[in-house]
Amino acid sequence: MSTRRGFFAQMGAAAAAGRLLPEAAYAQRAAVRGALAQDMVWLNANENPAGPPDCSLDAMRAVMANSGRYHYNEFGGIYATMAKAEGLVPEQIVAGCGSSEVLHIAVELFTSPTRPLITVEPAYEGPRDVARNLGHQVILTKLREHYTADIGAMVDAADKAHGGLIYLCNPNNPTSAVTTADEIDWVVKNLPANTTLLVDEAYIHFVERPDVKSAIPYVQQGKNVIVARTFSKIYGMAGLRVGFAAARPDIIEQMSRMSLNVISIVSARAAVAALGDKDNILRTRKATLVKTRRELTAWLQERSVKFIDPNANFVMIDVGRNAREFITKMPALGVAPGRPFPPLDNMLRVSIGTDADMTKFREVFWKVYKA
Ligand SMILES: Cc1ncc(COP(=O)(O)O)c(C=O)c1O
Repeated sequence: MSTRRGFFAQMGAAAAAGRLLPEAAYAQRAAVRGALAQDMVWLNANENPAGPPDCSLDAMRAVMANSGRYHYNEFGGIYATMAKAEGLVPEQIVAGCGSSEVLHIAVELFTSPTRPLITVEPAYEGPRDVARNLGHQVILTKLREHYTADIGAMVDAADKAHGGLIYLCNPNNPTSAVTTADEIDWVVKNLPANTTLLVDEAYIHFVERPDVKSAIPYVQQGKNVIVARTFSKIYGMAGLRVGFAAARPDIIEQMSRMSLNVISIVSARAAVAALGDKDNILRTRKATLVKTRRELTAWLQERSVKFIDPNANFVMIDVGRNAREFITKMPALGVAPGRPFPPLDNMLRVSIGTDADMTKFREVFWKVYKA
């Protein structure tokens, strides 16, 4: 029988082979070891506890019995639907096995031993690890005050290297901090020669701030910009592995040549069904998340526990001492928090779960905090 631990052992093998891992694999490798409680509250991988919407579950049930066929002829229409949902044409997107696949492709195509990946430390590790595993150059930039990306340093680094791939995760994982629309506009206007901006918008749907916007309009304007999106987060489909990149048709053409294949028809139908009710799904899920997120931050504030103002479905909490203690002790008490994110060693990342999950989190967190 396949176990969760067995699965993650396999993911470890994938890491050795240099593939970009999904968040859950990073989480498991780093944080949770030993026997796992059956009723563990999983707040370690920024998943959505709601899972896929009902319309997607119905769509998947309907296609299961026909999944003996490739369904290749349907994918033109499926990808056109995904593109249209963002105001794009099919030539402007490439779908992948989660956004992990398209991020991997972008790194492989647009970085090299002399053309760096320019990222933030800490940011989502996937692109950095792919670049390193390929033997490509990586430049890590430091966060500014208030934990925001130093866009000036990133552009300077690209300029000095005569080009590169700037990876900006917005909101950033793990800080939950954002880069504003004005700042992204500045980066686009000041992109050095041979430089591509890769904006990872895995968590964009959870943002409340009006000064933060998607970078997809730059794709429509034909700029050197790639936007990565996923169905793993607000749509609750992490295990279905659907994501896409949006970019200019010439960039998409290059990326498509390196994509593995079409995605699973079961996952594709789930995504298309969700897009059919997109506005409603995004609105209701965001409202649920925002309410639970506010309750957590209010609780932390009442106890004078510091945190970074969150904009995604996770909160970075300053525990005032090395967070490893929480990361190792909490799973034994039934709650799995996020992994370490050096150099923010005193910070603990917690994903927002259900209200019941967060009640348990508060209980266990406080026990360790007060010990
Ligand atoms: C910022 C960011 N990008 C990309 C991913 C990859 O997700 P997926 O491959 O499930 O789309 C994650 C996973 O958590 C993430 O946090």
